[in-house]
Amino acid sequence: MNGEVAIITENITKKFGEFTAVDKLNIKIPKGSIYGLLGPNGAGKSTAIRMFCGVLTPTEGKGEVFGLDVYKDAEKIKQNIGYMSQKFSLYEDLTVIENLNFYADIYSIPKKVKNERIEDIINMAGLNGREKNITKTLSGGWKQRLALGCCLMHKPRLLILDEPTAAVDPVSRRIFWQIIYKLAKQGITILVTTHYMDEAESCDEVAFIFGGKIIGKGNPKKIIEEKNAKNLEDVFIKYVEEQTGEKVQSSFDKIKFIQS
Ligand SMILES: Nc1ncnc2c1ncn2[C@@H]1O[C@H](COP(=O)(O)OP(=O)(O)OP(=O)(O)O)[C@@H](O)[C@H]1O
Ligand SMILES: [Mg+2]
Repeated sequence: MNGEVAIITENITKKFGEFTAVDKLNIKIPKGSIYGLLGPNGAGKSTAIRMFCGVLTPTEGKGEVFGLDVYKDAEKIKQNIGYMSQKFSLYEDLTVIENLNFYADIYSIPKKVKNERIEDIINMAGLNGREKNITKTLSGGWKQRLALGCCLMHKPRLLILDEPTAAVDPVSRRIFWQIIYKLAKQGITILVTTHYMDEAESCDEVAFIFGGKIIGKGNPKKIIEEKNAKNLEDVFIKYVEEQTGEKVQSSFDKIKFIQS
């Protein structure tokens, strides 16, 4: 459809039985950009991502990743992307280096380049000195960086990160994002979902999803201006209020607290 885009979709839809999780989504993610997918729990972000990754077959609509068709070329798409799913799991009983070796083998990295590739990833993720640590003893922030490293083993052109910093402290989040910027500078396209609006403001472009539909998209600064909001968190709340027709404050007022 277009040589300058990493992902492009036309009315891409996913139904689970009668339920429509992703509803006629049109998205265009430019190569080399950092693109954020935002929206409340259950909005359809992970489902959309799984279709882009070739993991889930769409029910209807079109989609291409680097010109590869999401229906026909799912296996080829997987070779071009690094996907860190919401529940990406490392082998907890293995050491850091053993996990990296394991993923290198999964991606069939040739023996000749394997050690060099692993060393590069250790440096990139700042894991030096922790190679022999058992993964389950690492804190959440370190685990996420190791997981990111595993996803980069085959040098993907597109990195898809589904809530990579959930339950990660602010310092580790900041470091994680510095790594993301570096990867983007190297030309890797990044698609990320997050519930942290400070992270979302760092994206080149964002799309808000609600009920499986895109309800707003664009450059974060421009959206904030257009919505006459203080920040992206305010925009998020405004969108949800518009969609539900209910003020967040009135939802709170309905909550009944136990009287002591
Ligand atoms: N395999 C499935 N079968 C049936 N329903 C599903 C399936 N996967 C997802 N759903 C439903 O589709 C909707 C969208 O889910 P999805 O996981 O894509 O949301 P999300 O935006 O990623 O939410 P969160 O922010 O909580 O991760 C939800 O209502 C979910 O229950
Ligand atoms: Mg999700």
